[in-house]
Amino acid sequence: MKTIAIYPGSFDPLTNGHTDIIERALSLFDTVIVAILHNPNKTGLFTVEERKELIRQSLVEYEDRIEVDSFDGLLVDYAEKKGAKAIVRGMRAMGDFESEFQMAMMNRRLNREVQTVFLITGLRWIFTSSSVIKEAARFGADISGMVSPAVHLRLKEKMEQAGYIRRQP
Ligand code: PNS
Repeated sequence: MKTIAIYPGSFDPLTNGHTDIIERALSLFDTVIVAILHNPNKTGLFTVEERKELIRQSLVEYEDRIEVDSFDGLLVDYAEKKGAKAIVRGMRAMGDFESEFQMAMMNRRLNREVQTVFLITGLRWIFTSSSVIKEAARFGADISGMVSPAVHLRLKEKMEQAGYIRRQP
């Protein structure tokens, strides 16, 4: 029987910190479903379709073992539908703990069959998050070491379109 884990999140966009967690999850589970929350009340920088495409492009080498999908509603319902026994969440610093613990306890209350597995991110990604990367990119900072080349390119295009950074001649 194949072991399946869900790695849920906003992924707006995928960072190298997320990739680090996916690689760690792949050492424990046969298949990892990277599941983007489709939240109609929250518009991100990238559309859900763009985020999916960027994840696929960035993780080509794992394409046989990952599935990229989106979901709405309760995460535990989605996990059950996909036959997943585990939800993977990445932990960076202690600051993540409180909200993650609360979410894990709520998910356990909603469905006792699905376990939350916390994976500790690599030290170099401790301060990496999609929001700080977007903030830095908006001011033209070099974020190439924090995201995949595909995300880097699309982020630059988005910021140029929005008029935040000037197009290179
Ligand atoms: O990357 P994020 O934004 O921290 O991810 C949060 C996410 C998508 C994991 C969380 O918001 C979620 O699971 N939403 C689905 C709704 C749900 O199941 N809520 C109950 C648990 S509190």
